[in-house]
Amino acid sequence: MDTVLSGIRSTGNLHLGNYFGAVKNFVKMQHENRCFFFVADYHALTTHPKPENLHDNIKKVLSEYLAAGLDPEVATLYIQSDVPEIIELYLLLNMNAYVGELERTTTFKEKIRKQPENVNAGLLTYPVLMCSDIIIHQADKVPVGKDQEQNLEMARKFAKRFNHMYGVEYFKLPEPYNFGDELVKVPGLDGTGKMGKSDGNGIFLADEPSVIRKKVMRAVTDAGPKEVNSTMPEPVANLFYLLDLLSTPDTVEHFRSAYHDCSIRYGDLKKQLAEDIINFTTPIRERINDIYNDSDYLRKVVNMGAEKARASASKTLREVREILGYRPF
Ligand code: ADP
Ligand code: TRP
Repeated sequence: MDTVLSGIRSTGNLHLGNYFGAVKNFVKMQHENRCFFFVADYHALTTHPKPENLHDNIKKVLSEYLAAGLDPEVATLYIQSDVPEIIELYLLLNMNAYVGELERTTTFKEKIRKQPENVNAGLLTYPVLMCSDIIIHQADKVPVGKDQEQNLEMARKFAKRFNHMYGVEYFKLPEPYNFGDELVKVPGLDGTGKMGKSDGNGIFLADEPSVIRKKVMRAVTDAGPKEVNSTMPEPVANLFYLLDLLSTPDTVEHFRSAYHDCSIRYGDLKKQLAEDIINFTTPIRERINDIYNDSDYLRKVVNMGAEKARASASKTLREVREILGYRPF
């Protein structure tokens, strides 16, 4: 049985990218594996340092996980900040992580560009905390989107370095995972780049149908194909990417051949895509509110998750401390 683990930062509502990049795989895997899924609320502080929305964002992400199908009875579902063992391992791993390699990480460089006024050390050591999240439970597989590939590479590097430095075969080397062959990168509908919470281009699981219709109808396209069988420009290919994820194969085939014989009308494609997204998100959206308002249930889930996660994490930490040479007097 594999150990599967993933997390999402509590910086806002879940969008289709989060769902297809991470959550969907996880929901599929939770019954056959030892699963951990958590809300990365410490990671959220690297970009969202203000206390006002912290608690509510955690609650939102947790409710949306549950509404999307994570089962807290079979998987361990917890809040990162409820498991202090993660932070102790993070501190220990920091001693073997080099500033130079952290500075070269793509996500760090990107964040420097995006928030030059707040280049904090938490951003620099983000991959170390992520490594700690993963190896504290000895995870084998980590369902994430394509954007997390490098962070996973770093996690393997740190785990391997630990084993090498202390001459042990202790930590497993975690692999990014997706059911398909490739990691997923769900595009935004603004023509370029990925869908992201902070990119202003998200279609959220909690969005009302009218909002989804508006967002999809506004998606960037072009004037339409001029020649038979021409290559699709990126914004149009992005619409097809979403269609592939959310519509039936017949629908995809219908619009693909319409594109290739130049009879396509983007308005029809968008209408269909919006309805298919709405069909998909509606049952999830309807569950989100009920769960969000059920404080007793959420408290139970969080307490149960923290207890299970801490049991697993403290075992690892005990063993790590011993490997490092910490002994009781
Ligand atoms: P965001 O990028 O919206 O801030 P997170 O950084 O919290 O979201 O990402 C949480 C998970 O969702 C990660 O596994 C990430 O790879 C995945 N993810 C985020 N955006 C996308 C996307 N557009 N396509 C595929 N996976 C994504
Ligand atoms: N860095 C991830 C993201 O932004 C979130 C995350 C934190 C994570 N710790 C993790 C994902 C551990 C997988 C495993 O998307």
